Formats: sequence, structure tokens, C-alpha cells
Amino acid sequence: MDAFEAISKRRSVRKYRPGEVTRQQLSQIVNLGRLAPTGRNEQPWEFVVITDRTRLRQLARLADYGKFIADASACIVVLCRPTKYHLEDGSAATTQMLIAATALGLGSCWVAGDKKDYAAQVVSLCGAPAHYKLVSLVAVGHAAEIPAPAKRPLDEVLHWETFGAAK
Ligand SMILES: Cc1cc2nc3c(=O)[nH]c(=O)nc-3n(C[C@H](O)[C@H](O)[C@H](O)COP(=O)(O)O)c2cc1C
Repeated sequence: MDAFEAISKRRSVRKYRPGEVTRQQLSQIVNLGRLAPTGRNEQPWEFVVITDRTRLRQLARLADYGKFIADASACIVVLCRPTKYHLEDGSAATTQMLIAATALGLGSCWVAGDKKDYAAQVVSLCGAPAHYKLVSLVAVGHAAEIPAPAKRPLDEVLHWETFGAAK
């Protein structure tokens, strides 16, 4: 699958069926995450991959809109040192990992981390130093259902030269 196809096919998967996702696949996903651009090339991130079912359930309990993490094969927790651009950096890595998972034929979903009351508890559950920031939780697994939410069309969002110019 090339990059165009993987980006086009990616959708947030919130229903998972049982099935193994190998360490090699998870390493491949994190590997593409760590190649994302970062402000000043600071690469402030750490990726904690959780596959233990008890710990997946603990994450699911914390994440108000991430209950499906309990059924995923893995959850990649994206943590960043607090730098000027850590949120952009961690978000860029998150996006690349979602695309990588799609390219491997896996489902995934970005679950919010930043701004959430449970962020500190997730940092602690990961055993990370308390000053680390939770950017996202990335559920990964075999999709039981792939939704297709509507996207705004290109000709509505694309503006040549100036905002509001004739299309
Ligand atoms: C910053 C951010 C936070 C998100 N948090 C959640 C979340 O907590 N739970 C969830 O189910 N989806 C979450 N999503 C996924 C969005 O709901 C999803 O991307 C959006 O509905 C569009 O669907 P698509 O990803 O299938 O294109 C989040 C996405 C982003 C970018």
C-alpha cells in the first residue's frame, strides 16, 4: 500500500476483534512515528506500547472516550517532554502511526490525551516521570468495523492564493 492509499483509507476504528498484532508490527508503527518532523528537531517523545490486557482495561477505564481500548490488541501511549512544540510534535508522530497501522492492514484510533483530566494518571500508569505530557493514546488492533465519516470536499476547503477566492 502506498502513502496515498494508506492516508486515504485511514479511519478511526472503535470496534476491534481479537487477534494478534506482533511486536514487529508495533515496532514498525512506532518506527514511522519517530520519523515525524519536530520543531527544532527536538524529538521530545517516548512511546510506551501496552499489550497487557489488564493494563489495556485500566487505560480504557480512564479514557472517557476510549473505552474500546479494552478490546484493542495494543495501545501506544505518546508521551512528550514539555517543550515549546511538544503537542505539535507528538501529534505529528501520532498521525504517522495511524497511517502506518493502516498500511499494515490494522485498525487504529487516536484517543485524546492532552487536556484530559486523566492525563496524569496515564503518565503514572506508564511509569513515566510526572513532568511528561500525555499527547495521545493510539489504539491498535484488527478492525471489526471501519466507519466512514463524511469529509468536507476538496473544493470546499481548498483556496487558491487567497481565502474565499473563486474556486
Ligand atoms: C486530537 C484528537 C483527539 C481525538 N480523541 C478521540 C477520542 O478520545 N475518542 C475517539 O473515539 N476518537 C477520538 N479522535 C478521533 C476523531 O473522533 C476522528 O478522527 C474523527 O471523528 C474523524 O474520523 P476519522 O478519523 O475516521 O477520519 C480524536 C482525534 C483527534 C485528532
